[in-house]
Amino acid sequence: MSLLPETLSRIWRVSPPELRWLRPQDAASCARLHGASFLHGWQTGDFEHYAKDEAYCALGAFAGAKALVAACIARRSGDEAEILTIMVDPAWRGQNIAGRLLERALAELAAQGASQVFLEVERDNLAACALYRRLAFAEIGRRQAYYARADGTRAEAIVMRRDLAS
Ligand SMILES: CC(C)(COP(=O)(O)OP(=O)(O)OC[C@H]1O[C@@H](n2cnc3c(N)ncnc32)[C@H](O)[C@@H]1OP(=O)(O)O)[C@@H](O)C(=O)NCCC(=O)NCCS
Repeated sequence: MSLLPETLSRIWRVSPPELRWLRPQDAASCARLHGASFLHGWQTGDFEHYAKDEAYCALGAFAGAKALVAACIARRSGDEAEILTIMVDPAWRGQNIAGRLLERALAELAAQGASQVFLEVERDNLAACALYRRLAFAEIGRRQAYYARADGTRAEAIVMRRDLAS
C-alpha cells in the first residue's frame, strides 16, 4: 500500500527525504515521475541505464524510506558535466528538495573531476530558472524553438553554466 502525500509530508517534518544513488530497481518509479513532470516521458529502460552506467550521476530523494519523490540525472564527460534532468513529485515541490538534490549532484560531479556544469531550461519554466539561478548557474546562451510544447508551438531554451570549485 502506498503512503498518501499528506502522510509522507508529516514524515518529512520528522525526517526530510533521504538522498541516495538510484538503483536499477528504482527505474520504474523514475519513469513514472518523469512522465508526471515532462511532456515526453523517458522510459524505465533509460533510467535502468543511468543507474548502472558510471558515466551518469543518478540521484534520488526518498520519503518514508522507499517512495521516490525526486530525482536528478547528470552526465560527466572529462572535466565537463551536464544536468540531463531534475524532477520533483508535484506534491513535494517548493520544499527545496530539488535544491538539495542539485547541490549533492554538483558535489559528486566536482569530486569526479568536473569543473563546469551545463544545462538547458525552457525560458518560461520559472521554478526551474529560479532554482538554477539560486544555485549560481548563469545564462551563457539561448536556443530558439528548442522545446516542443503540448499546443504545437515551440519554446526557447536558456543554456546555463556553473563553474565548480576544484
Ligand atoms: C523545477 C523543479 C525541479 C523544482 O523543484 P522544487 O523542489 O520545487 O524546487 P525548490 O523548492 O528547490 O526551488 C523552487 C524554486 O522555484 C520557485 N518557484 C516555484 N514555483 C514558481 C513559479 N511558479 N514561479 C516562479 N518561481 C517559482 C520557488 O520559489 C523556488 O525558488 P526560490 O528558492 O528562489 O524561492 C520542479 O518544479 C519540477 O519537478 N518541475 C517539473 C520538471 C522540470 O521542469 N524540471 C526542470 C527541467 S529544466
